[in-house]
Order: sequence, then C-alpha cells, then structure tokens
Amino acid sequence: MSRPIHALIDLSALEHNLSVVRRHASRSRVMAVIKADAYGHGLLRAAEAFKSADGFAILELEAAISLREAGYEHTILLIEGFFSRSELELFERYHLSTVIHNSEQLEMLSAYKRPRGLDVFLKLNTGMNRLGFSPEQFPGALEILKSNPVVGQITLMTHFACADAYKDRSGVAEQLKCFNSITSNLNFPCSLANSAATLSYPETHADWVRPGIMLYGSSPFSDISASELDLRSAMTLTSKVIAVQYLHTGDKVGYGQTYRVNRPMCVGIVAGGYADGYPRHAPTGTPILVNGIRTRIIGRVSMDMLHVDLSEIENGGVGSPVIFWGKGMPVDEVAESAGTISYELLCSLAQRIKIET
Ligand SMILES: Cc1ncc(COP(=O)(O)O)c(C=O)c1O
Repeated sequence: MSRPIHALIDLSALEHNLSVVRRHASRSRVMAVIKADAYGHGLLRAAEAFKSADGFAILELEAAISLREAGYEHTILLIEGFFSRSELELFERYHLSTVIHNSEQLEMLSAYKRPRGLDVFLKLNTGMNRLGFSPEQFPGALEILKSNPVVGQITLMTHFACADAYKDRSGVAEQLKCFNSITSNLNFPCSLANSAATLSYPETHADWVRPGIMLYGSSPFSDISASELDLRSAMTLTSKVIAVQYLHTGDKVGYGQTYRVNRPMCVGIVAGGYADGYPRHAPTGTPILVNGIRTRIIGRVSMDMLHVDLSEIENGGVGSPVIFWGKGMPVDEVAESAGTISYELLCSLAQRIKIET
C-alpha cells in the first residue's frame, strides 16, 4: 500500500469557476491562465476542464506545445514570450502567440524572415515595473511590430500590481489611466485583467481577461473568501493519521521540541510534510481537518509528517482522514496562517503526490 497522501482534483469545480469568470466578464474573451502546471492542478487535466475558454496563457514552451499536440486549437499565449530566436520556429510551427515585452524580443522578431502571421501581445509597463515597454518606448515598439510582415494580430496588454486591493482603488486607477492614455486612440484589442481585476474592476475587462487563481477556487483578496465569491475549491490535498501519541504535561513535540504539551493530550501523526508541498513555516495553530473536524497542527512540520492536535476529535486515531486544504478547509486560510498565499501552496505540490480526479 502506498502512502495515503494524495490530491483530488475536482473538474466540475474548475468548470464552475470558469463560469464565474464568464458571469463577471460576459463581454470579454477568457484566457485561462494555466502556467505552472495549471497552478499545480495538472496542465492537460485543467485544459480539458477549461476547454470552453477562448485561450490559454502559459509560460513554458514545452507545455504550450503539449497542449497543441493534445489537439487544443485555442489561442495559446506565452506570457514571457520567447527567449531566443531559435524558438520562433516553434512558435510558428505550433501557431503560438507571444508576448513581446522588451526590445531584444523586437529585434529577434525583426530578424526572423518567415512570412507567417505570428500573433503578438505587446506589453506596456504601466507601473508594475516587471515586464513591458515604458510609455515612452511603447509607441515606437508598436510601429516596429506594425511594419513587420511576420506579425499577425497585435493585442495590447498590461498587468496590474494592486488589483487585489479593491478598497484602495488608486493603484489600478493609475495604471489604467496610463494604459488608456497610450492606447485609447489605437485600434487594437486589449487585455489587462487578472482574477482580482476580473472580479472587482469591470472597467478593466476589455477584449481579453486573464484569470488564474480564481479558476482554481481561491480568492485573490485577503478579506473576501472564495465561497463569498462563489468559487469552488478544485484541489483537495488529503492524507491520513498514521500514528498516535498519548502525551503527558511537559512532553514536547517534533523537531526542536518547539511545542510543549500543557495537559494530557492525544496527538496524531499525519503522512504529509514539506517534501509533499506542505509549508514548513506553517506554525502551531495552522488549521487542518481530521475526521472532517477542524483542528490545528502543532510543532514543526517535518519532511514527510506533521503533528495534529486530536484533543477534540472524536474517534481520531490511525486511519482517520485528514484534509490539509481543499473541500472544507480553504487553502487561503492555510496560506494565511503560514504567511504565504494560496498560489504558492498550490504550485508547490510535490511531484511525488499522486493526483486523482
Ligand atoms: C501576465 C499575467 N496575467 C494574468 C495572470 C493571472 O493572475 P491571477 O492568478 O492573479 O489571476 C498572471 C499571473 O501571475 C500573469 O502573470
């Protein structure tokens, strides 16, 4: 028998979350963001659940090619574009769209003399200061693309730094103003919105929205839960209690003996640790479900195991089912307790975890 830890992916939740995107951005096309193995959910599995989307945004060229080879005819956008001229041939062969965000890419494209419509998303840096041309450089970059016969459809894009701050709207307003000031007289389709903007800034929806995290059932906001947004958790990471320790007052728990028991206590040892993708920095008190009942982890997370408090768990013993996150235990809550975000937990699922649907 193998270790009891595994991840369950709920395909109907993925489909449902896409319908929530459609509900919010009914006039826009939807580019489902499926980079990083679809945020840990499995590329082809997620693509199938999102097949009614209009496009896929991805980062890894090999993954984009595998999508094409699996028969998806959608727009497939590489959101960091290409890194060398030699990759352009693959973009052409597999009809992949590319972001162009710097002048090096523009030059590589200008030197590529094949007569074929390569669809391009030209990125404007409106304040995130990560990728994209500055407002001063952008018009020149656009002119170069327009005069390049290799280029097919041009779409203009940017990315928001603070769309999750839905109360202080000044960050998005500033970036949107910058974007509009450069692009409003240009007759090209546009793409701006990630999940947070899709949910809370309808003025950013434009021609294409690019949601990621909400498709997987997690909230992009720190103070609005996924269920309040009608999002359904798609990944449930589950395991079992594999041992029980009956401890006395003064006993200590785990590496470093960082947790000291202050009353007789029943502690469960769960198969699942940081080598499975559970965050090592999750402190005592991080919520977890045992037998469907909410309890807490105690002590340090080990590589393959962690300790849970079974004091309040009726019939908690070896074999009791555990949910680290997913159905009944929002990944956002676990992430917050561990001082991180759900994106990191979902993407960190270890390769050794068996995934089931
Ligand atoms: C360019 C771009 N668009 C869209 C997204 C999706 O963002 P989110 O997962 O917050 O919806 C990302 C994610 O990092 C991104 O880099």
